[in-house]
Amino acid sequence: MIEKKIIIAIDGFSSTGKSTIAKHLAAELNYLYVDTGAMYRAITYYAMQQKYVTKEFLDKNALIEDLPKITLDFVYNSELQFSEMCLNGVNVEREIRTIQVSKLVSKVSAISEVRRKLVEQQQAMGTKKGLVMDGRDIGTVVFPGAELKLFMTASPEKRAARRYKELLDKGHKVSYDEVLENVQQRDLIDSTREDSPLVKAKDAVEFDNSDMGLREQFERVYNLALLKISEA
Ligand code: DC
Repeated sequence: MIEKKIIIAIDGFSSTGKSTIAKHLAAELNYLYVDTGAMYRAITYYAMQQKYVTKEFLDKNALIEDLPKITLDFVYNSELQFSEMCLNGVNVEREIRTIQVSKLVSKVSAISEVRRKLVEQQQAMGTKKGLVMDGRDIGTVVFPGAELKLFMTASPEKRAARRYKELLDKGHKVSYDEVLENVQQRDLIDSTREDSPLVKAKDAVEFDNSDMGLREQFERVYNLALLKISEA
C-alpha cells in the first residue's frame, strides 16, 4: 500500500524550537520543510534596504507597491542539508537572522498585503502534500485542513536563552536582555495584530517545551505524525 502524504502545520511563539522539530520531522518522513518566518524576514530585509521601515517609521504603501517586484525562493544547500532563503535571486540566509531584522519583522508581517502574497505562495507549496510548515498562522489560515497541527509554547525566558545562544554561536553580536525584549515584543505584536494573529487552532495539539528535552519532544511529535499518516 502506498502511504498517503499529509500536511503538518507547526505554529507557536518565536524561538519555541518549531524549526528544529519541523526540520527533523521533515527529514524523517522525507517531506519538504518550509520555514515561513524566513519569508516574512526576507520581505522585512527588503523593506530595510529600501528604507521603508525603521524603528520609528513604516512606509506601508511603498512596500505594498513593490510587492510584485519581490521574489522569494528556497534554494537547497546540499552541504548544509537545508534550504536557504533567496530574495530576488540573492542568498540572504544570514542577513535575515540578525536581531535588526527580528526587531522589525512583526511590524512588516502585520501588513495584510504582505500576508496575502506570502500565504498564496505557501499554499502553492502544499498542493502535493508531504509538507512540514512552521510559522504563526499555518494551522489557522494557510492550511486550516492540515491533518496534524502542533502549537508550541515555552516561557519567554527559556526562549530568549535559546535564541541568545543560537545567535552567539552564529557570531552575531547581541545581549540576552535585547533578545528577551525582542521575544516579548514579538509575542505581543504577533498575537494582537488584526490580520491572522497568532492563536492556537482549535484542533492543534499544544506542547509546552519549557522543560521538555528535544528527544522526548520529537518522539511524541513523530508518533503523532505516524498516527495521522496511517489514518489519512
Ligand atoms: O519564525 P520566526 O521567528 O523566524 O518569524 C519571524 C516573524 O515573522 C514572526 O515574529 C512573525 C512573522 N511570521 C508571521 O507573521 N507569520 C508566519 N507564518 C511566520 C512568521
